Amino acid sequence: MAVYLGIDVGTSGTKTLAIRHNGKILASATEEYPLSSPKPGWSEQDPEHWWQATIKSVRRVLKKAKVKPGEVKGIGLSGQMHGSVFLDKSHQVIRPALLWNDQRTAKECDEIEDKAGGRRSLIRMVSNPALTGFTAPKILWLRNNERRNFDRTVKVLLPKDYVRFRLTGEFATEVSDASGTLLLDVKKRRWCKPLLGKLDLDGSLLPKVYESEEVSGQVTADSAELLGVKPGVAVVGGGGDQAAGAVGNGIVKRGVISATMGTSGVVFAHSDEVQTDPEGRVHTFCHAVRGKWHVMGVVLSAGGSLQWYRNQLAEREIAAAKRKKIDPYELITAQAAEAPAGCEGLYFLPYLTGERTPHADPNAKGAWVGLSLRHGRSHMIRSVIEGATFAMRDSLEIIKGMNIPVREIRLSGGGARSEFWRQMQADIYGNKVVTINAEEGPAYGVALLAAAGTGEYKDVVEACTKTISVVTSTNANAKAKRAYNAAYPLYGQLYRSLKDDFATITDLVTS
Ligand code: XUL
Repeated sequence: MAVYLGIDVGTSGTKTLAIRHNGKILASATEEYPLSSPKPGWSEQDPEHWWQATIKSVRRVLKKAKVKPGEVKGIGLSGQMHGSVFLDKSHQVIRPALLWNDQRTAKECDEIEDKAGGRRSLIRMVSNPALTGFTAPKILWLRNNERRNFDRTVKVLLPKDYVRFRLTGEFATEVSDASGTLLLDVKKRRWCKPLLGKLDLDGSLLPKVYESEEVSGQVTADSAELLGVKPGVAVVGGGGDQAAGAVGNGIVKRGVISATMGTSGVVFAHSDEVQTDPEGRVHTFCHAVRGKWHVMGVVLSAGGSLQWYRNQLAEREIAAAKRKKIDPYELITAQAAEAPAGCEGLYFLPYLTGERTPHADPNAKGAWVGLSLRHGRSHMIRSVIEGATFAMRDSLEIIKGMNIPVREIRLSGGGARSEFWRQMQADIYGNKVVTINAEEGPAYGVALLAAAGTGEYKDVVEACTKTISVVTSTNANAKAKRAYNAAYPLYGQLYRSLKDDFATITDLVTS
């Protein structure tokens, strides 16, 4: 029987998932690795760790699921987006890769916008503004700061595409991940030669671009032996983790949106045409669906805000949960449910690691505003969850403002597992929210892309329709919705009021 593997090269580890042709999950395994931050705001990883984690997680999955080498018919790759692997002429890694959450490139972002003839002109070329996390500013940083390393660089690869190179020997990427480099003409789905020219970058630095379900190469004999599969297995394009996760959630049709609350929070909308926000607040990238696009807002600390609360302030709940052998989040959210919607005027701004959408402000900070003697722990916890959800609503409002229809919002990640948070999302978004039968995210999405790309399905839309279905549905509660609609405008205003003070705080702590 045919088996497809999805490999997701994440920030904390690489996860491999094996599925049958009908989408049934056989096994998954994750291998973790470290992240290093040699200076404040820097974030790097050693690409060799991704490759070793790939080998180990594939071997573990094949063993767990008792898959025979000859049964693996296709592999799909997903991964953290925007990272840059620099290779020299003998295809060796030159220095640790700079990751999506690295903030060192503010100057290079200005340089790119200047050379492109301004922010709007850049958005016209590549559909997005320059953000510190994207790949092009990282390449310019290397040129500006490590000239010798830059001069030795012959190829720049994204994280999952480095793993593809080790698997197949091919230099290749696909449209969804390539969109996040800031060097792709997102409308035409090919590298943007005019921008490369303006930035004085040689097009040969970049790999060949495929559609996400196209076969980009075959597993070499050496890699096949390391992984425990047969040589020649097809490796499809795959997708950046967000587009791949969206495929795994079945976000492949107009009107279906996802809201995923992991550490970060992502609101993701499928789009049949290229649609850009003229202010560049949301990203417009190619989708992993052939000839389609997506619009996406990224909240940097969504679930991360509640994680911060748990780690710093929930000692009591953690101890009680240990005694009761339950997850501390159960006790934390049970307390939140004791406070009313809107928290009697207590607001939490969730910008603990700066913000991307809608503010694109690395200086933004977290804050509780409106505290009074009336407020207790339950208000404080609830306000953290409300703040993170309001931040997601900001992205949803921009998407609605672009006339992208919002018929169904599919929830995933931590925010989908709690009934309390599901209801809050329905109330704050003012929409029905649903959950689906698939919870494996990007690895599942690229396993489906592998199945579609090797002929198991007509295309990825058919793969999703045949394997993914809705399992729970939650309607907004009219009273809570009114309370949140009344509270929401001030939430946005608070950021605007504090913006300059946040920058001053950054200056104070870094000077
Ligand atoms: C997407 C993004 C993150 C990273 C890491 O734009 O920055 O999703 O891909 O997961």
